[in-house]
Amino acid sequence: MVVRFSPFSLKLSQQPHNHEFSCFSKQVAVSCSYGLKRFDLRRPQILSSAFGGKSNGLRVFVVSDLHTDYDENLKWVECLSNVKYKDDVLLVAGDVAETYSKFVVTMSLLRERFEHVFYVPGNHDLWCRREGQNYVDSVEKFNKLLEACKRIGVETNPMVVGALGIIPLFSWYHESFDKEEDITGYRIPSLEMACKDFYACNWPNGLSNGDTSLSLYFDALNDKQTESIKEIQKTCDHIITFSHFVPRQELCPEKRMLFYPKLPKVIGSDPLEDRIRSIHGAQGREHASSCHVFGHTHFCWDAVVDGIRYVQAPLAYPRERKRRMNGGDKWLPFCLYADKKFSRKLNPCFWSDYYSLIPRTPHNTKLAPWVARFYKLKKTIDV
Ligand SMILES: [Fe+2]
Repeated sequence: MVVRFSPFSLKLSQQPHNHEFSCFSKQVAVSCSYGLKRFDLRRPQILSSAFGGKSNGLRVFVVSDLHTDYDENLKWVECLSNVKYKDDVLLVAGDVAETYSKFVVTMSLLRERFEHVFYVPGNHDLWCRREGQNYVDSVEKFNKLLEACKRIGVETNPMVVGALGIIPLFSWYHESFDKEEDITGYRIPSLEMACKDFYACNWPNGLSNGDTSLSLYFDALNDKQTESIKEIQKTCDHIITFSHFVPRQELCPEKRMLFYPKLPKVIGSDPLEDRIRSIHGAQGREHASSCHVFGHTHFCWDAVVDGIRYVQAPLAYPRERKRRMNGGDKWLPFCLYADKKFSRKLNPCFWSDYYSLIPRTPHNTKLAPWVARFYKLKKTIDV
């Protein structure tokens, strides 16, 4: 996910960096004047791959938002061990690369390293701006990417691996996903100005970013898998579903915390959450574990909501990675499943850790101090 407006040069997934809200420090201090209490988060010593030690059984690693258009990110993929993951599964939750050639290179590298690679497309994968002449539109590019996956040996359909059911879910966002109160009184750029999808994707007639058509279109593609999903539900105690987009608004920080407060309008899908619940059950699966992996916002996330565990473990942009523990050094795909059980929590997850301690108050629309300083108060004109 990226915004393109200046002069702010905002990064949507940026965690605040100032004396009031210092992330990943030994003690996270939240300004009392901001209405929140001081709380402690021990600096975690567990790297994202720590659970992925020696194992005799199936291991499943997850990652999203590889963005290998950045040389550093492609290098990261190239540097993944050729040996360590030979018997393992990798779930790639979208946004691999903007260009087809980089996409193929990246997925081929991953396929060489993992026994099974699963993938769902993200919005960046469907951009046509640099290679518009190669595709009629983003739907054609979507189909070309799925064909490439088939050729390379990357899975895009549900499958049982060992005793684990893995279900990729296609999705797209819609503005009405955002149900929380808007921030007003500031000059916040429009979605069209801020979100590159609005000009980098190209949709056929009837599909548009401006309504629910894209979210319904991509969700309906999952209907083709109804029978295989039923089979997985019958036979597997453990199921992992995954998508690029966000299924619930609680899986994103509140608007006042975001450098682009309109972000929740371009991240998530209600039909996606309905589909996840239709697979895992309204309260998750009884006597079993339910997990959904997603991407797109570049916020590390690990939280259980209504019986389902939701995880995001993005590689993200190089500048975002540098703000993580160890400056992002040695960041590896997160091992979500090994030895027939799900892993401990992904650590650190700044925002989901925060919300595990502090309830959401979306009716509070006063911008957080690190956001407010970027925006000038809107001038009101009386007519
Ligand atoms: Fe994305």
